[in-house]
Amino acid sequence: MFEERAECDKLATLLTQLNEHLDVFQQFDHSDAVVNSELWQLALDKPVPEIGIGAENVIAEMGEHVIPNGSQIPKPGCTSYITTAATDIGSVATLAGITASPQRIGLTAFNYLEGLALKWLADMFGLPTGMQGVFSSGGSTANLIGLGAARQWAFSQVGLNVASDGVQRACRVYATEQSHYTIHRSVAVLGMGRKAMVHIPIDDKMRMSVDALKKQLLKDRELDALPVAIVANAGSTNAGAIDPLQEIGEMAREFNIWFHIDGAYGLPGTLDPAVHDQFEGIALADSITVDAHKWLGAPVGIGATFVRDQKALFETFNQGAADYIESTTVADHHIQNSMDSIGFPYHDLGVELSAPTRGAIVWALIREIGIEGMRARVCRHNAMARRVADQAKQHPNLELALEPTLSICCFRYVHEKARDLNTLNKQIHRQLMKNGVNIPSTTMIDDKFVIRPCFLGARTNWHHADDLVNEVVEIGNNIMSNNA
Ligand SMILES: Cc1ncc(COP(=O)(O)O)c(C=O)c1O
Repeated sequence: MFEERAECDKLATLLTQLNEHLDVFQQFDHSDAVVNSELWQLALDKPVPEIGIGAENVIAEMGEHVIPNGSQIPKPGCTSYITTAATDIGSVATLAGITASPQRIGLTAFNYLEGLALKWLADMFGLPTGMQGVFSSGGSTANLIGLGAARQWAFSQVGLNVASDGVQRACRVYATEQSHYTIHRSVAVLGMGRKAMVHIPIDDKMRMSVDALKKQLLKDRELDALPVAIVANAGSTNAGAIDPLQEIGEMAREFNIWFHIDGAYGLPGTLDPAVHDQFEGIALADSITVDAHKWLGAPVGIGATFVRDQKALFETFNQGAADYIESTTVADHHIQNSMDSIGFPYHDLGVELSAPTRGAIVWALIREIGIEGMRARVCRHNAMARRVADQAKQHPNLELALEPTLSICCFRYVHEKARDLNTLNKQIHRQLMKNGVNIPSTTMIDDKFVIRPCFLGARTNWHHADDLVNEVVEIGNNIMSNNA
């Protein structure tokens, strides 16, 4: 009989071996992996092995073929999308959690830190007192959870229990076209159908028009549809715009509609005194989301939802009783062992049962640098976006597409002799990708194809703003002089 021999007691040795490769990776001078993809795919494309090669050889293969061909996202100059790599403490705390508490359940320090970290987030961002939080895998699930609670509450207002009886009425969810598409998906997954989404027009700053919202809500009073939620952006993905939260929140109260704020990216922006006022309306939120794996520097897989009505959350997501966990629900005075209690049952407040211990990671991130450290990061990144905006306004070959609110700045290269600025800026962006140092993404603002850096990563510093602007100008000038 063949004996399996997975290493289970050589972690420190294996980590030392892995570290050599990670250290090299973290010098961030690896080239664009796409260029070499044929080579590493060839090296990795093997049939499922009958006999394993052992842990040390796996790490050696990782070091040779996998890690060097990893993502461009951790590079300090990467300002694409709204994502980043974990800080060191984020990576280390992840390993600690995986090793010492593979699940968030149990009467453990990890289960405790799940709650403490949620409380710290709520305190740090000034959320209304009494909000109940739950971690999940990111903004997509966090929005789903918030809107699940909204759906439960809205149906309860007309005497229905949607969790047990299903969606029996046509629903309406109000948001702008700038809302993240995970909002649309959540509405569909929750059985309301994508057609339930009603797009409220935006103003010239890409924020929800409150007048248009009011008109729509008044008009919809004539309908038989159930208004389930108004969804506002506290930092839109496209441009970092913050909807007028206070006015929207007041309107939600007036019309007795659940007010959901998607702060997956932007909620930490409230730490910056320059934009803090724009977050005032979070006091009116019924549910609000934030991703730790964006601005806070956690590894991917950590979002949080906070809701005012804990009952709605529990009624939507509780998993019901199960015989096989009865033995762990002993009375408090019989607890002798961490396995005698499930700890706080976070699995009743979201869509996951098995889940990693995310709170310990968030706790570690905040414990390392405190609120002041987080504030410094957010302020630096927001100021970097404004700095790019200033340069775009001053430079004769640059144009600002939209005044930044948070850490996203949309701008483009312009030239009097260019025939098609959208094509030109696409070319510039392709070249930036190819060079692989300053790596922004792009978007469309008023039919203009624009360069769109989102400054977010802990490693992304002041000079990355200047470096990006200089590289855009240099590439644009080169293309124009080659075309001349
Ligand atoms: C505003 C907003 N909401 C939700 C999401 C989805 O978050 P995740 O990618 O963590 O699922 C994003 C992602 O960028 C976002 O920017």
